[in-house]
Amino acid sequence: MRCLRRPLYWVSGVLGVVVLTALFANRAPGPDGSSQGSGVTNDTDALVERGRYVAVAGNCASCHTRPGGAPYAGGVAFEAPVGTIYSSNITSSIEHGIGKWTAEDLRRALHEGIAAEGYRLFPAFPYTSFTQMTDRDVDALYAYLRTVTADKYQPTANDFLFKQRWAMAIWNGLFFEPARFKPDPKRTPEWNRGAYLVEALGHCGACHTPRNRFMAEVSANAYRGSNLREYVTADKVRDWAAVNLTSSADGLKTWPVDDLTKYLHTGFSLRGGAWGPMNEVVGNSTSRLTLEDARAMATYIKSLPEGGETKTPVTAEQAALGQAIYHDRCEKCHGASGRGGMFSGPPLAGSAIVQSADPDSLINAILYGATPPDGMKLGAWETMKAYADVLSDTEIANVANYVRGSWGNGAPPVDAARVAKQR
Ligand code: HEC
Ligand code: HEC
Ligand code: HEC
Repeated sequence: MRCLRRPLYWVSGVLGVVVLTALFANRAPGPDGSSQGSGVTNDTDALVERGRYVAVAGNCASCHTRPGGAPYAGGVAFEAPVGTIYSSNITSSIEHGIGKWTAEDLRRALHEGIAAEGYRLFPAFPYTSFTQMTDRDVDALYAYLRTVTADKYQPTANDFLFKQRWAMAIWNGLFFEPARFKPDPKRTPEWNRGAYLVEALGHCGACHTPRNRFMAEVSANAYRGSNLREYVTADKVRDWAAVNLTSSADGLKTWPVDDLTKYLHTGFSLRGGAWGPMNEVVGNSTSRLTLEDARAMATYIKSLPEGGETKTPVTAEQAALGQAIYHDRCEKCHGASGRGGMFSGPPLAGSAIVQSADPDSLINAILYGATPPDGMKLGAWETMKAYADVLSDTEIANVANYVRGSWGNGAPPVDAARVAKQR
């Protein structure tokens, strides 16, 4: 399903691991590229600790801990056009959690999307990525979840369509094939570790890979950007562009591995800082991983095959309409040259957010400002405030077109109606 499934490498991948294991006995990297210290895996504390780390890398908390709720007690609402689905209680509560589940049951849920009770889970739970997790990581996760305080909270029942679990048998038949991660022996251990973290645990593709109309990720366009719908309230939506993560011009072309590593590890780099939906990803997950793991992820992402959408860029006349607004409102921090600065703000020249064919994240930055994850600092940058009450839809479209068409940027134009949709 993903670019990692290369049948020929599969055999050599397994052979490679077998040979390495034989050569280095206990010190060989596991299939996920992490080191397995001798004897440590038998130690319960170490297993629980490893499980805690796996839970962080998989960002289970962002989806299973609702604001103000007990850790992992579920009830986080995921809205879709067809209704609402609520995350499950995954504490060891017998009544409402997964207290009766065995390690084998948890494997089946993460690898196949089937609950211990036999019903099929919806892919709002990204088992389409978690299917690649090693058994060893799932077992560690199981050991860790057993140590989480049981909480009796019962999540709200799903809306009608999300009770039709039989439908998932058909969907899975069409779009899902369980598959464990297979390392690529032609690549370095660091690359393989990064691939495992991004593909299996980090489920970055869940947001950054476009989906077809049946909500299945289109692997041919992996990581080339997708749209994300946030329900601010039940009837108010805010769309986001989960930008192209490949190194094409509208993606991460201008980001060296070092900056991407720093962004994932600290939420801040001179190429850009975390804000928007990435605040949860960086705040709850990637910033809590080791520096080596953040670097491995960055290494893998920078190796993704390039690709993006080419659309007719804004014309010089369209861009010129926003020049004065940029000068008055933005230049102080992002610079006349669009290159930002260490003490002012991130560069907009070459920015994936600015150049994304889908302008929604750019519009959101201007409408609602850009603030980092709680407790994180963006170096010496001054926080960007919201312009929703300061600029009209047309002015925001104009300034968006200015940054989309200046300093070598080339992205399609934005109109006022697109801005209005985001209010
Ligand atoms: C993007 C959001 C998201 C992430 C990340 C996520 N989950 Fe879930 N999870 C859900 C949702 C939503 C459901 C409910 C699915 C359904 O009802 O079909 C769910 C269901 C489950 C279930 C089924 C429980 C039951 O009683 O049926 C388990 C087990 C589970 N998740 C474990 C995990 C673990 C472990 C992690 C981290 C490795 C994780 N989840 C990460 C959203 C998420
Ligand atoms: C919940 C959806 C979601 C997930 C999961 C997600 N992203 Fe993102 N990402 C977004 C959105 C939306 C944006 C644009 C707005 C923003 O920066 O928050 C973005 C932006 C980015 C950017 C560009 C930042 C910039 O300022 O130019 C990078 C790099 C990135 N994501 C990397 C990742 C990686 C690596 C992962 C997996 C660990 C990941 N994302 C997982 C939604 C997501
Ligand atoms: C007070 C300084 C300041 C002003 C004025 C300002 N910004 Fe920003 N802007 C920032 C900072 C700092 C960030 C990074 C926030 C973060 O990463 O959490 C940012 C982020 C952005 C981003 C996201 C960039 C990326 O790649 O992640 C865009 C787009 C943006 N600003 C556009 C604008 C526009 C357009 C204006 C004028 C309407 C403007 N900004 C005014 C400081 C400013």
